Formats: sequence, C-alpha cells, structure tokens
Amino acid sequence: MIPVAEPSIGEKELKNVIKAIKSGWISSKGEFIPEFEEKFAKYCGTKYGVAASNGTVALHLALATLGMKKGDEVIVPTLTFVATANAVVYCNAKPVFVDSHPDHWCIDPEKIEEKITKNTKAIIPVHLYGHPCDMDPIVDMTRDHDLYIIEDAAEAHGAEYKGRKVGSIGDIGCFSFYGNKIITTGEGGMLTTNDEEFAKKAMMLRDHAMSKEKRYWHEYIGFNYRMTNIQAALGVAQLEKIDKMVETKRKNAQSYNSLLNDVGGITLPPEATWAKNVYWMYSVLIEDEFGINRDELMLRLMENEIDSRPFFHPMHTMPPYKSDERLPIAEELSRKGISLPSAVSLKREEIEEVVNTIIGINDENSKIIF
Ligand SMILES: Cc1ncc(COP(=O)(O)O)c(C=O)c1O
Repeated sequence: MIPVAEPSIGEKELKNVIKAIKSGWISSKGEFIPEFEEKFAKYCGTKYGVAASNGTVALHLALATLGMKKGDEVIVPTLTFVATANAVVYCNAKPVFVDSHPDHWCIDPEKIEEKITKNTKAIIPVHLYGHPCDMDPIVDMTRDHDLYIIEDAAEAHGAEYKGRKVGSIGDIGCFSFYGNKIITTGEGGMLTTNDEEFAKKAMMLRDHAMSKEKRYWHEYIGFNYRMTNIQAALGVAQLEKIDKMVETKRKNAQSYNSLLNDVGGITLPPEATWAKNVYWMYSVLIEDEFGINRDELMLRLMENEIDSRPFFHPMHTMPPYKSDERLPIAEELSRKGISLPSAVSLKREEIEEVVNTIIGINDENSKIIF
C-alpha cells in the first residue's frame, strides 16, 4: 500500500527522545520545550513560540488569549478541518463561514467583508493543504475593522506569502505536529507570535493559569494544554530537517505536476504568484470530464493499493454547523478534491505508479464513453 502520509523519524529523533526519558523530565518541564519553542519561532520569523499538546488546543489557546467569549463572532473558511470551527465554539463564540477562492482554494478575501458585523472579533485564515492564504487584503480588513488574525497554519509549515513565512503575519499563528504533518511530535501544536503579552498570556493559560509568584494560585480558569518534553525532543530533531522536508514536498509536487499535466479532467494544485506552496498534501480536482467521479477514483486507487483522502466537507454542510446557505466554490472543491500520496518518503517510482494507475483508469473510462 502506498500511504497518503507517513512520518520520517530518524536516529536523531530516537537519540533525543531517549535523552528526554533518561533525564526524568518526561512531562512538561525539561530542556527540549524552550529549545523547540525558540527554534520553531525563529524558523517562522516570530519572536515567541508557545508549545501546546496539539493543533486544536493551540487554536483554542490563541482564541482564549485574545479574549474570545460568548456573543463574539469569528470568521472562518467553510472549507477547513473541523478543529478550526470547533475551537471557536470552545470559547462559546460563533464561527461565521466564508466561501473559498476558486484559484487558491483558501478563504476568499473578497467575501469576508459582507460577513463582518459589530460582533466580529477575529478572522482565522487557514493555509489549506500547504497553500498560503492571500493575506494582504485580510490584514487591511482587520485594520479597518479592528479585528484579530489567527493564522491556522496547521497544514502549512514553511509556506510563504510574499516571502514571509505563514504564522508570522497575523497576531498569532497556530501549528499542528500530528503524525501526518510536515514535521511531527506525535501529537503536538505551537502558537507563534511577535507580541510578548500574547505569548505570556498563552503560556499562563496553558498551565491552568497558575500564578508565577504564588504556586497553586489561579486568577483565571486556564487549561492543561502543555506539550511534554518527550514530544519536544522529537520536535527539535524534526526541525533540523524541516527545510529538506519542504524541499522534498515541493520536488514531489513538481514530479506529479509534470506527469499529470496532460491527463484530461484533472486540475493540478494551485500556486499563486505570491505563494510558496509546501504541498502538505498533493491535492488535485477530479473534474466531470475525467469520466468517473472523485469517490469512484478513490475506490479504484484503493483496489490498486494506493491510499488517498477526499477533501474536507464544508463546515456549513455538517450537522453541528448546518445552514441553508450555499457556499458554492467550497462545495464544488469538496466534491472534486482528492489528496494523493504525499509522504516525504515517497519515491519517484511510487509517484509514477500512482500517476500510471490514474492514467489507466482514465483510459478505461474514456473507452467506455466512446
Ligand atoms: C487546518 C487544521 N487546523 C487544525 C488542526 C488540528 O490539529 P491537531 O490534529 O494537531 O489537533 C488540523 C489537523 O489536522 C488542521 O488540518
């Protein structure tokens, strides 16, 4: 089976993890946590990093740090992983969904303004499948309306918008280090920010909002969203390879692009002129002309021992967030989108096998049609 994703764990990771375990610092104190925070923040081009137990709680922590509460509205793309919307609800605030841009698949900045009300407090642009959002118009809008930006960069480590790394453009960036992400700590997350107060508040809330001066004294209701030293040990070693991993993802995407370029009925992944796409997932659209639809293609690939993933369901189509509103671009992307095997460990022969299988399926169906 060619997997959609798999982690690349080497000797250095093992060495660091053993070191963390042998040190006895196996919970959330220990040398690897500040090291990982500092190095990841530096990689993103921010002053501070705040490690968390996973990407979902990183988003919740960011929203709590910025004071989101009942009655507040937060603008979110409808086409995202459910954690983006759920984190808003964890604060008793309301996610307000916006359609995708047809060219780059991320939130459409032109469709945000009409959703802003007097209750809107923040926007969460999601850098989807490794492609950055069009940030300038979003930054302008938040200045005009006095809103916060939390970048959901869970899927886009190292992606760039006009030369700036994602996670460094808004007020706070949030990352995931789940096992299928570009770098992993098993489970894990990180907030990145240039604002000292936000970093301090996030660190405090992450640890039950315990007073620094007075042990077991709590001025607020906080959380246990801490990362362990073992996870951070893994993260420090992974971070040493991040440039190589991003380069490999981009190289694999180029191989796929050149091999799939002439196959009818497939739209290749976008890379806007202002973007550096890190292709966390190599994702394409299966157009109606392809002959069979996305779901059938996934089944046929599986018969050939090739794993794949469908795009996310738009939030406004699922029971917790259901509404009658039509957000047609996201709905169409969700219906047509498929992520093909994208692991850093993917070999050139495996990419060729995936593409040849797709071409074979396409030929068969063209024959049936004619
Ligand atoms: C866009 C997005 N946001 C948030 C998350 C949540 O991250 P985690 O799984 O680490 O909680 C994910 C996870 O895959 C994601 O894709």
